[in-house]
Amino acid sequence: MKILVTGGAGFIGSNFIRYMLEEHPDYRIINLDLLTYAGNLENLADLEGCRFVRGDIADKAFLETLFAEEGFDGVVNFAAESHVDRSIEAPGAFLSTNVLGTQALLEAAERHGARRFLQISTDEVYGSLEDVGRFTEANPLAPNSPYSASKAAADLLCRAYWKTFNLPVVVTRCSNNYGPYQFPEKLIPLFITNALADEPLPVYGDGLYVRDWIYVRDHCTALDRVFHHGRAGEVYNIGADTEKTNLEITQTILEKLGKDAGLIRHVKDRPGHDRRYAIDSSKIRAELGWRPATSFEAGMSHTIDWYIRNESWWKKIKSGEYRQYYQRMYGNR
Ligand code: NAD
Ligand code: TYD
Repeated sequence: MKILVTGGAGFIGSNFIRYMLEEHPDYRIINLDLLTYAGNLENLADLEGCRFVRGDIADKAFLETLFAEEGFDGVVNFAAESHVDRSIEAPGAFLSTNVLGTQALLEAAERHGARRFLQISTDEVYGSLEDVGRFTEANPLAPNSPYSASKAAADLLCRAYWKTFNLPVVVTRCSNNYGPYQFPEKLIPLFITNALADEPLPVYGDGLYVRDWIYVRDHCTALDRVFHHGRAGEVYNIGADTEKTNLEITQTILEKLGKDAGLIRHVKDRPGHDRRYAIDSSKIRAELGWRPATSFEAGMSHTIDWYIRNESWWKKIKSGEYRQYYQRMYGNR
């Protein structure tokens, strides 16, 4: 089987390629990535058996050549602009990659007869929950940030390519991931690396916002299951029933690192901040027999250990363009 993985130099994509090469050593994987600020070939440095191609998923001429040359059996689309705060600052790139890029990829897959197109989406397309209830696949789409709006648009294009062109598309909507190789702009790696450097942990607002966390490898096992056995035209939610407030996450990190709660700083809130996400993943569990395997305790311990052992990975990132980003985002907060 020959699979095109897009965004494979990012956080989840690189974990997915590593997982797939372990589980299916006979598969050929081609990793297409633009190497934006979030893409990092060091995430894959130890891997063999995967061709890397630098390019933009929104570049139709480039995709035409690549698809004609390789003849993919399937496509797994991780490539995206993925950070909510950046989408508030500059939404344009979110539309070109997440919406137009997904459409260009769908078109190439359809033209070249791909037998599977897996779109990696997010629970954020459902919007925000109050204290009760969980998102099911039947929830209406109600995105609140430019990021989630662009992902919702991509989900709808996937549906249209299934309905109109019979392209066998499957969409997954996963909750918040954490684990090795996550770019230190997201909550967990930002707070681990700041705490390791004895720098403040900027908690937005009251810190009582709730996210439903999943260890990245569990997301990858679910994607493997959906890629091979999911029904075309369907949406599958993925989650591990692990709701935590941001302050609970912060406390876990501080405790595991033996750092003082004095590092916590409550800062100005994110505009349009979704209060709570919680995912009902009973469909994938019942239909495909999937289960997460990693407890929050174990996942956080592995993750924190990984950031301790891989200081040079994140120090290099945090010393570059990231410094201007951090100043813009947190300087006057
Ligand atoms: P990431 O930001 O770490 O990685 C994104 C990758 O896409 C990078 O390697 C980047 O270089 C590449 N990319 C960006 N624009 C591109 C373009 N135009 N052409 C080709 N490559 C491009 O993101 P992530 O956290 O690994 O998320 C991967 C996917 O999973 C995204 O689609 C995201 O919406 C989805 N998702 C993420 C989470 C999460 O918690 N991180 C949860 C649910 C769903
Ligand atoms: P994030 O990792 O950006 O993921 P998302 O917004 O896609 O869920 O943020 C997770 C939660 O942590 C969210 O409620 C915002 C909050 N947060 C902070 O309080 N401080 C921060 O510096 C960051 C990056 C996030």
